[in-house]
Amino acid sequence: MTKITRSILVTSALPYANGPIHLGHLVEYIQTDVWVRFQKLRGHRCYYVCADDAHGTPIMLRAQQEGLPPEQLIERIGAEHRADFNDFLIGFDNYYSTHSPENRYFAELIYRRLQEAGSIVQRVITQAYDPVKEIFLPDRFIKGECPRCGTPDQYGDSCENCGSTYSPTDLKNPRSVLSGATPVVKESLHYFFKLGDFEDMLKTWIANGHVQEQMANKLEEWFRAGLQEWDISRDAPYWGFEIPDAPGKYFYVWLDAPIGYMASFQNYCDRVGLEFDEFWRYYSEAELYHFIGKDIAYFHTLFWPAMLEGAGFRRPTGVFCHGFLTVDGQKMSKSRGTYIKARTYLDHLRPEYLRYYIATKLNDRIDDLDLNLEDFQQRVNSDLVGKLVNIASRCAGFISKRFAGRLAQSLAEPVLFGEFVTAAESIAAAYDGREFNRAMREIMALADRANQYIDEKKPWVLVKQPEQVDEVQAVCSLGLNLFRVLMIYLKPVLPRLAEDVEAFLQIPALSWEALHQPLLDHDIAPFKPLLQRIESDQIQAMVDASKDNLQSTPSQPAGPLSANPIAATITLDDFAKVDLRIARIEHAEAVAGADKLLKLTLDLGGERRTVFAGIKSAYDPAVLQGRLTVMVANLAPRKMRFGTSEGMVLAAGDDQGIYLLAPDAGAQPGMRIK
Ligand code: MSP
Ligand code: ZN
Repeated sequence: MTKITRSILVTSALPYANGPIHLGHLVEYIQTDVWVRFQKLRGHRCYYVCADDAHGTPIMLRAQQEGLPPEQLIERIGAEHRADFNDFLIGFDNYYSTHSPENRYFAELIYRRLQEAGSIVQRVITQAYDPVKEIFLPDRFIKGECPRCGTPDQYGDSCENCGSTYSPTDLKNPRSVLSGATPVVKESLHYFFKLGDFEDMLKTWIANGHVQEQMANKLEEWFRAGLQEWDISRDAPYWGFEIPDAPGKYFYVWLDAPIGYMASFQNYCDRVGLEFDEFWRYYSEAELYHFIGKDIAYFHTLFWPAMLEGAGFRRPTGVFCHGFLTVDGQKMSKSRGTYIKARTYLDHLRPEYLRYYIATKLNDRIDDLDLNLEDFQQRVNSDLVGKLVNIASRCAGFISKRFAGRLAQSLAEPVLFGEFVTAAESIAAAYDGREFNRAMREIMALADRANQYIDEKKPWVLVKQPEQVDEVQAVCSLGLNLFRVLMIYLKPVLPRLAEDVEAFLQIPALSWEALHQPLLDHDIAPFKPLLQRIESDQIQAMVDASKDNLQSTPSQPAGPLSANPIAATITLDDFAKVDLRIARIEHAEAVAGADKLLKLTLDLGGERRTVFAGIKSAYDPAVLQGRLTVMVANLAPRKMRFGTSEGMVLAAGDDQGIYLLAPDAGAQPGMRIK
């Protein structure tokens, strides 16, 4: 068998560094990660890079709102994104930021090359300007009445009522969203990329099958509408890279965002000693794939390949576009509790449940996909727990108890085992072609087959007949071998479960190559439950926690377990600002509708405070009454759905427990801590 090792570089779109990762985003990162893990499992050289998209007006304004330099905001959000991805088992080889020296280098390089080639032109344009904030306004920052139907409060680019699109200067009674002022029209010199010069190249590139068929049709429409010159500059104040030799002009965030793919890969190459050019030079033989959502297809199928071509770099081998996630058939909504953040999901459920469910839903097309929460629970319970893990749990007990953990010396039914192994080609083709739903169907059909075999043989009956004992070992050993094959097939989707199975079977990392080699005459470890069913109240709790119940952004009250970034050092003055006091818990009670909160009434030596604390999982309210603890007495009050929290009690905690702090005997309510 000759094996051709492919060299593959893969990216997912770079999430904006101004908000949390939610389940919609995860469709893309899970899709990409499964595909990458599959390629690696097959033994290919495959690298997966990504980064935060850290520039642009919304990030600049959000930082201003929070009173932070943008560098600090993007660092904090970047750390949150990394943690979310890590906990969803997204195995990036490198995760970086577009606000990096590598990205500045490549943005400038590409811009200069395009300029030398005559692909950049300058032109004065007029644009809406906020005279109070002294800033040019992106379309989304202007609101007014729709010029077509008169509906008030519409964005500067399109009307939600009649669907018409227009330019912000057409709006009636326009206002700046930032200051409320009436925008004025102001002139400014802008830089444009001449996309139209690349039309023939793009048409050939698309005809050569680098995009999906549905996308090719969409592109036809765009070509018919005509390719416009693309405005790649923005005026100061702007958060991004200044354009070389153009003081006060910045690259538009969408210019340097896709270049971030190169920057992240360069950063990776420097880290591990790979050759960047092998993947990016014009005649590269390596494959390059971008996974993206349908909303950003224009950037990836027109601007990006044109920029690369114009600057002398290779174009993508494939741009793989997916549809949008809906939850229970509708757009994710904060009021319904279906705008579910990655972190909120993780607080309640294992990441692999979602990875599997998304895999059963994904194909190679651009259609939207629905996460139906009931179907999700049912599918995971029936497939992963009821079918897959069931095979192992039905067989392992007999092997451990009756045969000291030893598997049989030969395969009971080589033909059945052979059927499982022969499915590899079809399953591999489904993975490679991003038809994950087909791969999952075929794998689950095999799982049914394995369960059927065990049902027919009934080892639990055989075991009662002494002369049939060898047969029990043979049946259960085959069952476990079938299970092992299924776990190889599912490893790209369920990497952590695969690791647990490797430990249980006491084998090295499962690989596609090892499919044909059954485990015989081999010791396995005692079986431990591998996966629990999803219970309805876990899903309910996740939905409740996702409901838009707080005024401020954090999904939980500031409590002992809230995950705020911690500064490396603070000054004594910083510390002195915190008014820490001894408090006596007068009363404690659970809060209806909040699964983590206790409502505490605290006595500060005469003064009384109400504090909501996320300690319900650790304390029965009754045992808290009368206890002394430590509180932050000068924390700004926080309005919550249940009432206002007037401070914070101190507790230590991790995933395992929460421990309220208490003073030594003698301390009195109201005492200051110094
Ligand atoms: N920063 C840009 C991408 C720059 S790539 C050079 C961006 N960021 S994003 O955070 O808004 O989206 C990141 C990815 O998540 C995009 O591919 C987007 O299509 C995808 N999704 C965001 N919401 C989604 C759903 N509800 N469903 C599926 N994918 C979604 O766009
Ligand atoms: Zn309208």
